[in-house]
Amino acid sequence: MRLDKFVCKSTTLNRQQAVLVISAGEVTVNGNAIVDAAVQVHESNCIEFQGERLLPRPFRYILLNKPKSTLCSNVDGDYPSIFNLLNVPNPDELHIAGRLDADTTGLVLITDDGRWSFNVFNPKYHCQKVYRVRLRDSIEGEHKGEIDGQLVARFKQGLQLPGETKLTLPAKLVYVSEREALLTISEGRYHQVKRMFAAVGNRVVGLHRERVGSIECDVACGEWRYLSDIEVEGFGFSSLSELDNRR
Ligand code: URA
Repeated sequence: MRLDKFVCKSTTLNRQQAVLVISAGEVTVNGNAIVDAAVQVHESNCIEFQGERLLPRPFRYILLNKPKSTLCSNVDGDYPSIFNLLNVPNPDELHIAGRLDADTTGLVLITDDGRWSFNVFNPKYHCQKVYRVRLRDSIEGEHKGEIDGQLVARFKQGLQLPGETKLTLPAKLVYVSEREALLTISEGRYHQVKRMFAAVGNRVVGLHRERVGSIECDVACGEWRYLSDIEVEGFGFSSLSELDNRR
């Protein structure tokens, strides 16, 4: 990470202040004063400011239940950013892992650990996401209380989405009611759920993400909580050795 970023992550200084103290020669890396704020450093380096060793704050991992008409963005746009709901220090250090559309509700993960979020949503790990989908048209098959079998099979086989070369990975569709289903997918393509239902001639009129990996959206709409260590460690990785490899 850049030296100025490291200084921000381990002090209360903002980026501008960090650049100033670095160019004034007040920060040393392994005993040498470094005046270039862009120099790459590692946590294992001994980085000192005013004679004190700097240690970065621990990473933060947050689960938020996103309300409708909010943006998965660090800044406001057509709708307010979800960051308005987080009363945490240094929100600018955080980023969103796996965005939802403005009209989608449910589980959003927010962190300042770039490696973790990259791995969690890395298609290689096939992390499952469960969506509750409300639909314009009925999905009921011949028998009441079950989905049209052909539709289940098409989602399982994979769908060809317009403009894409690869079929979607096998997805699981479970009946909730005539116009509501639970869909489990293990990818995160652009507007994937809406496009999958559009590909079979239906339309999503309500979308809520209930689960990502083993993490349930268990807080009220607009509320958030920190993930537990167990959730962070086990999350999205199919084996502990994969988790070890990233360390
Ligand atoms: N799929 C969509 O179409 N929209 C979302 O917000 C998430 C998944």
